[in-house]
Amino acid sequence: MNDRIADACPLVPLSSSLKIGNEAPDFTARTTQGDFTLSSLRGRWVILFSHPADFTPVCTSEFIAMARAVPQFESMDCALVGLSVDSLPAHLAWLEAIRARFGVTIPFPVIEDPSLAIARAYGMLDLDARNSATVRAAYFIDPRGIVRVITWYPATVGRSVAEMLRVLRALQRVERGDVMTPEGWMPGADVVLPAGQTYDEVMAAGPDWFMNMQPDDEA
Ligand code: BEZ
Repeated sequence: MNDRIADACPLVPLSSSLKIGNEAPDFTARTTQGDFTLSSLRGRWVILFSHPADFTPVCTSEFIAMARAVPQFESMDCALVGLSVDSLPAHLAWLEAIRARFGVTIPFPVIEDPSLAIARAYGMLDLDARNSATVRAAYFIDPRGIVRVITWYPATVGRSVAEMLRVLRALQRVERGDVMTPEGWMPGADVVLPAGQTYDEVMAAGPDWFMNMQPDDEA
């Protein structure tokens, strides 16, 4: 195990059952942009995402799409951080191959996790899989370091960067006010108000008492 990670995560379990609402385990690791400590990004949103392997087609398509969307993530004060069990030299060679073949420079750091210390701490490993590749996991971490959304996709199905952006917008919207976001919500669309908690509030809501959609006052 990488000593620095062992120092940062002394009680790395075989596989974590990290859940939304938990504090994101802190760590320091080597990345394509130098040493990186997760807690150095406190105060910003972070999407920490794993991929199964370098030099694979679905992962390459995701990296290209994520790189192109970095200005949108940055406009929402969100940093992207990639991770796989592959080594730093493999990451560097793959990022250069993406630049050479597709003209896309990957602007976010990619963590090497050959000891699986971080993958285990976050639960990025599919224990039923026959190898140590991480699944396509993504952890949306809020500015206080709390995990707010976890997604898991199999190796064979690429994620939607548009959906990642939408989820981040929805998280930031509910953070700002006493509203929730309905299915497929996009900025400008109606939001859901919490159900009444008293008899008078329920009566006042009338037929909308169990689903009260209202125009968003931020729209
Ligand atoms: C891919 O990214 O294309 C991939 C990675 C691991 C297994 C299968 C596909």
